[in-house]
Amino acid sequence: MRNMTERELTDVVLERYEATPDPRLRTILHSLIRHLHAFARDVRLTEAEWMAGITFLTATGHISDDKRQEMILLSDNLGLSSLVNMLTADVPEGATETTVLGPFYVPGSPKRGWGESILLRESKEPPLFIRGRVRTESGEAIPRAKIEVWQTDSNGMYDIQDSSQPEDNLRGFYAADDHGAFLIRTIRPTSYPIPTDGPVGELLQATRRHPYRPAHVHAIVSAPDFQTLTTHLFDSEDGYLDSDVVFAVKQSLIRSFVWNESASDAAKYGVDGPFWELANDFVLTKAA
Ligand code: BEZ
Ligand code: FE
Repeated sequence: MRNMTERELTDVVLERYEATPDPRLRTILHSLIRHLHAFARDVRLTEAEWMAGITFLTATGHISDDKRQEMILLSDNLGLSSLVNMLTADVPEGATETTVLGPFYVPGSPKRGWGESILLRESKEPPLFIRGRVRTESGEAIPRAKIEVWQTDSNGMYDIQDSSQPEDNLRGFYAADDHGAFLIRTIRPTSYPIPTDGPVGELLQATRRHPYRPAHVHAIVSAPDFQTLTTHLFDSEDGYLDSDVVFAVKQSLIRSFVWNESASDAAKYGVDGPFWELANDFVLTKAA
């Protein structure tokens, strides 16, 4: 018996996975093995570098729990989440584009009434009202669609990162009415740094990348017979739109918040001072 060459090793490994019964799993594993081996050969990976990678991934797993998803954060920072989003998005012209979910989504957030605020603390900040319709590309209403929203507070932290915030602060879901209309009350979002106190922070530091995401409100919009839409509404005035740390900005999702000083408009929304507003429809695509 003679020793294998580098190429023969790859072929032998591929061969051992040949009998995988699930054809999709076989395709994925074969491609993963080919690319991993090609990568190691390409950079002539040393054992010390391989071990550094293992240590990094182990730390990424160890810091993760039900509130912190460092694995998703790593995928986001390598552009993998955005790439998978591009590969799977099946959004026809005119429908709202999708973007990444991110690690701060909490399923089962509480229901909010028409125009009820998701900000659960006292605040002097002007409110932001987001109003619109959930509809099809041809303008038909999608009645009683569910619109889940979440965002950071003005300190740049989500409620689940910051024990000083009330539980479920700045998250909740709204039900569209019979005409697909909805009214969300929140505050204008701010740009914020992703968590940098773990392995992904070390990666950012080592690569001299800033940790900021441009200001945005997250939304998941769902209705029976339609594809669930996972998206963001980005603030057009934000300075990080061109350098989002997780590569998730899409031009069509950038919105201008409008400052409204009209006392009569304020009265319609039940507030007594100026406010921000955004008219925004969510346009869903029929499920296949
Ligand atoms: C977010 O927008 O919540 C987010 C997305 C990706 C990575 C970190 C945060
Ligand atoms: Fe976010």
